[in-house]
Amino acid sequence: MRSWQRAQFTARGLTTRCVEKIALSLTAALRRLLPRLAALLFASCAMLTAMPSHAEADVPPLGRSQFDYLIGQAPVPFPFAHLLQLINAQLAPELGLPPVKVTLIPLGRSLQRGAGAPDFFRYPRVVLAVDGEAKAGQVALKDRLFLGYHEKAGVLEVISYNEAAGRFEFQVVQDYRAGARPKIYYARREICLSCHQNQAPMFARPLWDETSANPAIAARLKAAGGDFYGLKLTGTDVAYLIDAATKRANLIPVWQRIWLEGCGEGEAGDACRSALFSAALRYGFSGVLPDATMLKQLAPGLDQRFAQRWPRGFAIPNPDLPNRDPLALLAGNEIDLAREGLPSELATLAHIPARVEPLNVRPPLEVWAGPEKARLIVGLASLLDRSDLQALDQGLAANASGQPQQSVALSCRIRYKDAARRASLRCAGQGARLAAALYFQGRKAQGRVSEMIVSGALAPTALTLSGDTPRVGRAAHLTFRRDGLRARLADGRVLEQLVLLPRTTEEGPATLFIRDDFARVNAALQKMTPGPGGPFQARLWMAQLAEALGLPYPQHAARAMPPIQVQPSVAALVGGSGMQDSFRRYCGQCHDTGEPFPPNFLQGEAAQLTAKIDHCAERIFYRLSMWAVPENKRGKTPMPPTSALRQHGFDAERWARAPELAGLRAYVTQRLAAEGDPQRLLRQPFESLRRCIPPAAAHAYP
Ligand code: HEC
Ligand code: HEC
Repeated sequence: MRSWQRAQFTARGLTTRCVEKIALSLTAALRRLLPRLAALLFASCAMLTAMPSHAEADVPPLGRSQFDYLIGQAPVPFPFAHLLQLINAQLAPELGLPPVKVTLIPLGRSLQRGAGAPDFFRYPRVVLAVDGEAKAGQVALKDRLFLGYHEKAGVLEVISYNEAAGRFEFQVVQDYRAGARPKIYYARREICLSCHQNQAPMFARPLWDETSANPAIAARLKAAGGDFYGLKLTGTDVAYLIDAATKRANLIPVWQRIWLEGCGEGEAGDACRSALFSAALRYGFSGVLPDATMLKQLAPGLDQRFAQRWPRGFAIPNPDLPNRDPLALLAGNEIDLAREGLPSELATLAHIPARVEPLNVRPPLEVWAGPEKARLIVGLASLLDRSDLQALDQGLAANASGQPQQSVALSCRIRYKDAARRASLRCAGQGARLAAALYFQGRKAQGRVSEMIVSGALAPTALTLSGDTPRVGRAAHLTFRRDGLRARLADGRVLEQLVLLPRTTEEGPATLFIRDDFARVNAALQKMTPGPGGPFQARLWMAQLAEALGLPYPQHAARAMPPIQVQPSVAALVGGSGMQDSFRRYCGQCHDTGEPFPPNFLQGEAAQLTAKIDHCAERIFYRLSMWAVPENKRGKTPMPPTSALRQHGFDAERWARAPELAGLRAYVTQRLAAEGDPQRLLRQPFESLRRCIPPAAAHAYP
C-alpha cells in the first residue's frame, strides 16, 4: 500500500475507533448533561474528521445534520409545500425577500438531471437554500440547509451542516411521494463528492441560465403549466442569493480547518481560538472589523502556524460551476435518436458536454498564503445566531447600571433641507466625530449615521438613530441601534444616547453617552479560557459565555432522532470473474447502487453482470476511450471521474496509461467486436449510443 493511502486508511480507522470508544463511554443522555466534557473528548476525533479526505465516512463521525434536527422522528412532511412550511416556521420573518430562496432547474447537471424526461418542463428540479436567520430557540439553518427535490424521482437531496462534526452531511430522502413513507439515508458520500468536490453545496456562475432566471427557461416552464408546489418563478435576484449562500457555505469548512488546524493543539491553540471567538463576538455585536494593526495583533501565533501547516498556501475549494444554457444546444444540432425513440429535441436538451460537466475536477478558487483574519472573523461571526446576540445584548443592558457611563461633550451643527423635513447633523469634540442624516415627522426624528468615530474606535455605517426632533432650548434624546441590537463601537462599547441641546436652530452642544459593558464580556472571556473544544460550535461557546456572565441561556429542546441509516453499500462480489471484479472495484462505488442515476449497470447477481455490462458496453467504451482524447476535445467526461482515482492511488495522467484501464477497455472492445469496429462509436454523438439500462428497467430515466 502506498504511504499516503496507508495514512488515509489509518485516519479513517482512527476516527472510527476514536468515536466508538467515546460512544461506549458516553451515552447520549450523559452527553447532553456534560457538553463540555463531551466536546473535549470529541475534539481529538473531530481534528481527524475535519481534514478533507476522500476516505470520509458516510455516517456522521459525531453529531447529526441540521436536517435531522429539523425533522426529528416525524415523517418528512409531504407534499413539498408542507416541508417548506416547516422550514419557514423556524425562521425569523424578514423584510423584503423571504428567508428561503427557491429556484427551478428543469434541465440541470445534478444527479436528477434525467428524472424529468421527457417532461422536463413539467417536472423541474427544485433547488432550495435557506439564507435567513432562525427564530430564537430554533436550529440555525442560514447557509446550513440546502435541498434539491424532484417530484418524478420521488427524491429529496439534502446538504445540511453538522455542527458537532464541523462538516456538511449529504443525505437522500427516498420514496418522498404521496402515499409512501419517506426514508432518510445518509448518502454514499463518495458519489456526492465526485461533483460536490468542495464537500459543500455548489452552484453555477452567473447568469444561471439553467434556472428560471433564464427568461427562455421561465417561458417554457410557464407554458408547461404546472403549479410547481405553489412556488413563484424567480429571477436572477434569487439565483444570485442562492449562489451567494453556497459561496458562504463553502467557506464554513474552511473556517473550521483554520480554527482547528491553524490554531493547533494545546494551550497556544486554545488561546488562539479564544482570541478568534472574542473578535468574532465583537464583530457580531458591533459590525466593525478591527483595523489592520489590531488584526495583526490578533492571535499572533496563527500566522506562523498557518505557514507551517500550509507551507504552499491553503487551497480554497471551488463551489462555482461554469454557466450552462441548455437551450443554446438546440440551435443546429443533428443528433439522430430514432434508435432510442425519443424526440431528439429532448435528448439534445439533456446532453451535457464534457466542458460543463460538474464531475470535472475544479482547480482551487484561490490559494491563501495566510489566515485571512478579517474574512475569518466575518465567517466565524456568521455562525453566531442573531437571536443569541440579541439575548446576550438584552442581558447586558439589564445589568448595565453597574458599569460606569462615559460622556463625550460635542458641539453640533444642524443644516435643514427640504422645508425642514430633513437635516444633516455634524458633531465634533473630545476626539469624537459624527455625521448623520435626520428625517422628521412631527416630534419624532429618524436618522442614519454616515460616519462616526470616538477616541479612535469606529462605529459601523449601518447605525440608525431615532428619538426627538431637535427644538431650540429643549433636550432632544436620540438612541442608536443596529440590526436589532444596541449600537456599539469597534471596541465593543455601547453607544447609549446622544442628547442634543440646540441653542439656535443651526447649532448647539450635545453629549454622547457611552457605556463599556464589553469590559464585562472581556472578563468573562478570560474566565472561560479554554472554551469548548472541537470544531467551532457557536451555541456551545455562547452558552459558556452566558454562564461566565451569570446570564441565562436558552437551551434547544432535545429532539428524539431516528437511528442513522446509510444507503446500502456495494454488494460483496461472490464468484465474480476477474473482469467483473475489476469493474466493481473501479466503477461499483457509483454504478452498483439502488439508484437509477448514475445508471446502476453493475447492480445485481454476478450471473447477470456480464449481460448488464454488455448492455451498457457502447457507453462504457466511449467513456473509457475519453482518457485517450485531449481534454478540450472530449465529447463526455471520462470514467471513472478524476476525483475517484485518488483512492486507487492514481492521478489522471497515470490512470490514462494504466494497464487496469487498458484491461477494462479491451474487455468491452472484445464484447462489442461482433457489432463492428467499436472505434466508429467515438464519431457518433454520445446520446445516440445504446442506453446503459434497458428502458423497462430504468424507471423513465433516459
Ligand atoms: C453529477 C454531479 C453531481 C453529483 C454526483 C451530486 N450532485 Fe448535488 N448538485 C449537482 C449540481 C450541478 C448542483 C447545482 C445545480 C442543481 O441543483 O441542479 C447540485 C446541487 C445540489 C443540492 C442543492 C444545493 C446546491 O449545492 O446547490 C443538493 C442538496 C445536492 N446537490 C445534494 C446532493 C447529494 C446528497 C448528492 C449525493 C447523493 C449529490 N448532490 C451528488 C451535481 C451533482
Ligand atoms: C465516483 C463515482 C463514479 C465512478 C467511480 C464511476 N462513475 Fe461512471 N458515472 C458517474 C456519474 C455521476 C455519471 C453521470 C454523469 C455523466 O454522465 O458523466 C456517470 C456516468 C457514466 C456513464 C454514462 C451513463 C449514461 O447512461 O450516459 C458510463 C457509461 C459510466 N459512467 C461508466 C463508468 C465506468 C465504466 C466506470 C469505472 C471504470 C465508472 N463509470 C466509474 C459516476 C461514477
